[in-house]
Amino acid sequence: MTSLRVLTGITTSGTPHLGNYVGAIRPAIEASRRPDVESFYFLADYHALIKCQDPAAVRESSKEIAASWLALGLDTDNSLFYRQSDIPEIPELTWILTCSAAKGLMNRAHAYKAAVQKNEESGADPDLGITMGLFSYPVLMAADILMFNSHKIPVGKDQIQHVEMARDIAQRFNHNFADLFTLPEAQIDDSVAVLQGLDGRKMSKSYGNTVPLFDSEKKLRKAINKIVTNLQEPGEPKDPASSTVFQVWEAFATPDQCEYMRGRFAEGIGWGDAKKELFELINAELHEPRQLYQELMSDGAHIESVLIKGAERAREKASALMKQVRAAVGISPIS
Ligand code: TRP
Repeated sequence: MTSLRVLTGITTSGTPHLGNYVGAIRPAIEASRRPDVESFYFLADYHALIKCQDPAAVRESSKEIAASWLALGLDTDNSLFYRQSDIPEIPELTWILTCSAAKGLMNRAHAYKAAVQKNEESGADPDLGITMGLFSYPVLMAADILMFNSHKIPVGKDQIQHVEMARDIAQRFNHNFADLFTLPEAQIDDSVAVLQGLDGRKMSKSYGNTVPLFDSEKKLRKAINKIVTNLQEPGEPKDPASSTVFQVWEAFATPDQCEYMRGRFAEGIGWGDAKKELFELINAELHEPRQLYQELMSDGAHIESVLIKGAERAREKASALMKQVRAAVGISPIS
């Protein structure tokens, strides 16, 4: 029986926030424990170079993301956890796929198109500031995905197009050379909560409304106190459906705890008290991982050893596939 292969990458250009945790990290870690799923999670540090030219920031982000995932209980025996740049087969496959990928397909990539449009609107050269990295980004991502014959790619909505491009590139290769690649599908899980940020919009770095995942307890409390509410007084019944405090509560609560808070809203709990209870709820989930995170952050050698082990296991698969890919395109020993 072939099990379901699930793969996703995390670009190493930032510090994980609570929205990343609820939307991506927590479900991925749950999946990492499932016996029927083979999961692949990796630090996409080559992708980070596309948008971040600050070496210290890329290095720090890689460490923070790895420490976060490990602290939150990623099962690194049952899943594969590695760093993209430790797998030299990935850039190798990227080149080979680049030679199959249609330029016209890349022209349609949202991120690239948006950059060109911005230049055009400001009257600048359409290519201003656009690197070949940005242009080829979907091919690198296709190599990440196709290298491990992944079936399902859990991603945010902004990445669906890239997964479809990977599928397209795979189809072309399979047709032109040899049927080597599994056709991947994006997986958008509606049961996974989209966490609202402090201002009620989706929590996102681009809105500046995020709550850091592993800052101090004090900062977490402070951030929760900043969640925007209406002006209703304690004692006035409140509407859970239109409250960010309640939406965030739901992302961390059991069904019973949700019922409980609905009751408290009906009774007219004050916003201050509701936020206090929300802090307690989130902190109960994050308290232990936060300590583990601090320990890991001061033991880089341990993080490194976990990643190296992951890369060794990943490379076994990658090198076997690359042998076939090379042969298929005519790069093989002369006999
Ligand atoms: N580009 C993705 C993002 O910014 C990260 C990523 C890189 C990825 N390679 C991937 C996601 C492969 C899924 C599969 O979110």
